[in-house]
Amino acid sequence: MGCSKRSESAILLGFLLLIFAESVVGRFVVEKNSLRVTSPDSIKGTHDSAIGNFGIPQYGGSMAGTVMYPKENRKGCKDFDDFGISFKSKPGALPFFVLVDRGDCFFALKVWNAQNAGAAAVLVADNMEEALITMDSPEEDHASLKYIANITIPSALIDKSFGESLKKAISGGDMVNVNLDWREAVPHPDDRVEYELWTNSNDECGVKCDMLMEFVRDFKGAAQILEKGGYTQFTPHYITWYCPQAFTISKQCKSQCINHGRYCAPDPEQDFSSGYEGKDVVLENLRQLCVFIVANETKKPWVWWDYVTDFQIGCPMKEKKYNKECANSVIESLGLDLKKIEKCMGDPNADSDNPVLKEEQNAQIGKGSRGDVTILPTLVVNSRQYRGKLEKAAVLKAICSGFEETTEPSVCLSGDVETNECLDNNGGCWQEKTANITACKDTFRGRVCVCPVVNGVRFKGDGYRSCTGMQFSYMHCRFSL
Ligand SMILES: *[C@@H]1O[C@H](CO)[C@@H](O)[C@H](O)[C@H]1NC(C)=O
Ligand SMILES: *[C@@H]1O[C@H](CO)[C@@H](O)[C@H](O)[C@H]1NC(C)=O
Ligand SMILES: *[C@@H]1O[C@H](CO)[C@@H](O)[C@H](O)[C@H]1NC(C)=O
Repeated sequence: MGCSKRSESAILLGFLLLIFAESVVGRFVVEKNSLRVTSPDSIKGTHDSAIGNFGIPQYGGSMAGTVMYPKENRKGCKDFDDFGISFKSKPGALPFFVLVDRGDCFFALKVWNAQNAGAAAVLVADNMEEALITMDSPEEDHASLKYIANITIPSALIDKSFGESLKKAISGGDMVNVNLDWREAVPHPDDRVEYELWTNSNDECGVKCDMLMEFVRDFKGAAQILEKGGYTQFTPHYITWYCPQAFTISKQCKSQCINHGRYCAPDPEQDFSSGYEGKDVVLENLRQLCVFIVANETKKPWVWWDYVTDFQIGCPMKEKKYNKECANSVIESLGLDLKKIEKCMGDPNADSDNPVLKEEQNAQIGKGSRGDVTILPTLVVNSRQYRGKLEKAAVLKAICSGFEETTEPSVCLSGDVETNECLDNNGGCWQEKTANITACKDTFRGRVCVCPVVNGVRFKGDGYRSCTGMQFSYMHCRFSL
């Protein structure tokens, strides 16, 4: 019984996905960073490499290392310890970037094994001639989910022929040094960053949902500071599918869709006979969109973060509270206009378009440098798809790298992303010790030397050797007296 229901739903789900995939012809954009070989001379040059979808890319930064190609366990599928191989570098030496070959096991496992052996980054050499692909994390494999969250080093896929030239140089006895550079991975044209999160209100889909919920809770504080300060413009998005015309009156579409099959979400348990239905998820997603729209109209878009986190905590599926009553109590507790939100949601039983969800379906289709959104969750920063772990410090780094240099807000300079280079020899910048003023400014990209503003006056100069301002002599006198 339960078995046949399950397969029925799986077939329909597959069908919906297929329709969706076909209608957009998969425009998936591979996000790249650049890899520059600095030595030996024979292979010097810059190459593209594709950022892995796990681990922590150093958005906005760069790192240098020496490439090591292990003598054994070259695919990195086994524990390097078993071969007595270590990638720990001696103090003062460049860290090791480990080169492994594609094949035999998940990308993420190779990176995990290399990290455990002390690698600072991993380069995976493709095993066929093809355009670069994104190394994704395995979704269904529960054993791997345990370590994926603990991967902290960045990784990148390189093409086959470039991999071969690296190997050749290494086997020829050359020391191969490379720079991995993420500074241009996110465009940074101005002092405001636009970013969007494609999310879902479903709280019972296993590890992926748990990860997404945890991220939203963790990131809320930073997101709200950025938004209140006018540094960012954030927009939440939700994916829906449509039911093929011929099936709109089928039991499956009725349970997974609203507005006569126009907007659907997969059944949370993939079982039509029990628990919540896909339709419940679509409705809550629509409510969250409307919360954003109404909050944005009152110039407080950041209230969306409060709503989704309060709803997650107060109205979980597990406690059978994932419903309208519970949602409305959260809306009222936040002082949002319930009537406006209901008006925005419209009638889910109507045989007509819902303008809000229609716009979301249009937005799923990629434009410009952004590919189609087909995976949840997806984060897009200044129109580039974010790659890497969905975790506060890593995402903040990506957003911070989207600001024009020196315009990044102080949240970019706090805690996890601070560099503190000004503490060391004042970063090599100009300073006036007696008056305690300096041109050194820590940014998460590293320090910059820019003449400071003192008592409202911008000092002029190159920031390295000199900075002068009207009040300087006055202050200088006062402090030296
Ligand atoms: C991952 O990290 C957590 C917390 O630091 C730890 O408890 C867990 O054992 C780690 N998992 C693996 C597979 O190492
Ligand atoms: C939110 O409001 C701003 C102006 O205040 C507007 O530019 C933006 O398009 C709005 N976003 C949405 C999704 O309505
Ligand atoms: C100089 O100013 C910084 C902050 O502007 C402060 O943290 C530091 O303690 C000051 N140093 C001295 C010697 O007054």
